[in-house]
Amino acid sequence: MTISNEKPFLAGNWKMHKTIPEAVEMVKALKEESPQLTDAELVVIPPYTMLSEVKKVIEGSTIQLGAQNIFWEEKGAFTGEVSPPMLKDAGCQYVTIGHSERRQYFGETNETVNKKIKAALAHELTPIMCIGESLEEREKGNTMDKVGTQINSGLEGLGKDEIRRIVIAYEPIWAIGTGVTATPPQAEEVHSFIRKKLTEKYGNEIASYAIILYGGSVKPANTYSILKENNINGALVGGASLEADSFIQITKEAIKAYKEKK
Ligand code: 13P
Repeated sequence: MTISNEKPFLAGNWKMHKTIPEAVEMVKALKEESPQLTDAELVVIPPYTMLSEVKKVIEGSTIQLGAQNIFWEEKGAFTGEVSPPMLKDAGCQYVTIGHSERRQYFGETNETVNKKIKAALAHELTPIMCIGESLEEREKGNTMDKVGTQINSGLEGLGKDEIRRIVIAYEPIWAIGTGVTATPPQAEEVHSFIRKKLTEKYGNEIASYAIILYGGSVKPANTYSILKENNINGALVGGASLEADSFIQITKEAIKAYKEKK
């Protein structure tokens, strides 16, 4: 699938939250509002157990489905893992790869991220590659080094046609779930670095259409100022994506900001 950043892109990463009935209730409310939100790309990313039920509800709407993780093999003796064809089967179009929580708690590395991205692309899934620095790395002045390495290693061996099908999410670890958001200029500095890096590696045409999301304590109240920044194409939202109302508000703020900066 070709992707473009003509509309703001809002993805709700539910992490390890909700039961199936709660998930269904949330997406029903989102679906009801979705005809008013067609100026944005909307993706919900529930836990595996809810994917199929959520898919049934969003069928026929503009809302798309993503998963939170993937394994690179197609099938086999890999207890506990979920393969790319299984995610397609459940109705997913997107998958987050290399979220900082996966890197921190589950041993995800730039190498596994790279393998997972390749596997997702091979099965026509769109990877949302998550990158970002810790507070310590930021304080030592190593933000760009860290993010640059994650991009180089995560995207290693991919051709231009594959890069066109990837979404990148910059999520500073110190801003995730903490209530501390990067200021818009802080986020923009890294986003513009990422776009520059993509330009160097893949040329201007690919870099200028790339979707680069910001994630980390995004809320209705800060979405507008973040999305107004030139190189920020959307948000990967955690906590504030769990309730339909706040995710809808965020989407409306993003649409407003995006229209104004065009
Ligand atoms: P919060 O929005 O809860 O800070 O989470 C951000 C995130 O990790 C999204 O992937």
